[in-house]
Amino acid sequence: MGSFKGRHIISLRDMSVDDLGTIVEATARVKSGGAADMLRGSTVAVMFFEPSTRTRLSFESAILQSGGRVFGFASPGASSQSKGESFADTIRTVTGYCDAMVIRHPVEGAARLASELATVPVINAGDGANQHPTQTFLDLFTMEEEFGRLDGLKIGMMGDLKYGRTVHSLAMAMAHFGARMTFISPPNLRMPDSAKAELLARGIGFTEVQQPEEAGVDLDVLYITRIQKERFGDPQEYESVAHCYRLTCETVRALGGSVRIMHPLPRVDEIAEEVDTLPNAIYFRQAHNGVPTRQALLGLVTGGLE
Ligand code: CP
Repeated sequence: MGSFKGRHIISLRDMSVDDLGTIVEATARVKSGGAADMLRGSTVAVMFFEPSTRTRLSFESAILQSGGRVFGFASPGASSQSKGESFADTIRTVTGYCDAMVIRHPVEGAARLASELATVPVINAGDGANQHPTQTFLDLFTMEEEFGRLDGLKIGMMGDLKYGRTVHSLAMAMAHFGARMTFISPPNLRMPDSAKAELLARGIGFTEVQQPEEAGVDLDVLYITRIQKERFGDPQEYESVAHCYRLTCETVRALGGSVRIMHPLPRVDEIAEEVDTLPNAIYFRQAHNGVPTRQALLGLVTGGLE
C-alpha cells in the first residue's frame, strides 16, 4: 500500500489489479469508519475547468470529512486563465499551495501534463473524452458491495461509448477481472477502436450490439451513460442520437429483472424516473460511494492512510 504515497492518478492504463484491490479495500475500511481524520494537516486544491456536481462536491466532502483543508475553483472563469494565463503556469503556481491537486479539464491529456509539472500528486477528475479514474474506483467499490466480488461479472455498457470517459476507464478496469462485456450503442457512438484493440491485446473479448435486449437476459450490470452533448462537433449529429435510449421498468423486466442498473450520472432522459424505485436501481448509492472512495484515494496518495 505504501506504493500509493506521492503517486499521480491519471489513467487506468497505469493501474494494476493489485492497485485496484487496494483502493476497493481501503474504501471499505473508510466506509466502515475505520480511518477518520486521515487528511488532518493536508491541503488539497480542487480545480475544475469543466462543470461538475458529483466529482467536485464529493471530493470536497471527502476532504472535509477526513479533516483536511480544501480550496479551488469550480470553473476556469474564476481563475486567471480568464486573463490569458496558461494551464501550465496555473499548475506551476498552485503546486506550491497544496499537498495534492484534483483536476478536471475538457482537454484529453491535461491531467497527464499537470502531473509532469506538479511537485504534488495530481488526481485526474476527468480529462475530455479520455479517462475518469476516480469514477471507476467508486464503480468497482459499488459492484464489490453489491456482488461480493468483481471477478467474472457480465456487464453491459450502454449509451455514448465514443465520448463517455467513464466507460473507457471502466472497460480497462473490468478487463483485469475477466469481465464479459457487451457494448450497446448506436453505430456512430461505438467504443473507440483504440480501446477495443487494447482489450483484444489483453485477451478480453466483447460483443457489440445496438439495443439492450440484444445483450441477453443474464447481465449482472447494465451501466448506462448519457449522450455527451458537449463533445459533439456537429449539433445535427447530436440530435440524431440524443434520445436513442430510454430505460423503463419494462426494459428492466425484459433484461431478466435482477440486473443492477448503474449510471455515473448526470442522467438526461436515458433512464425513466420510474426505474428509480426498483431495487435494481443503484445509481444514487453509487454516487454516494464517491465520498468514501475519494477519502480513501486521497488518504493513500497523501500517506494519511496506510
Ligand atoms: N459522474 C460525474 O463525473 O458527474 P459530474 O460530472 O457531476 O462530476
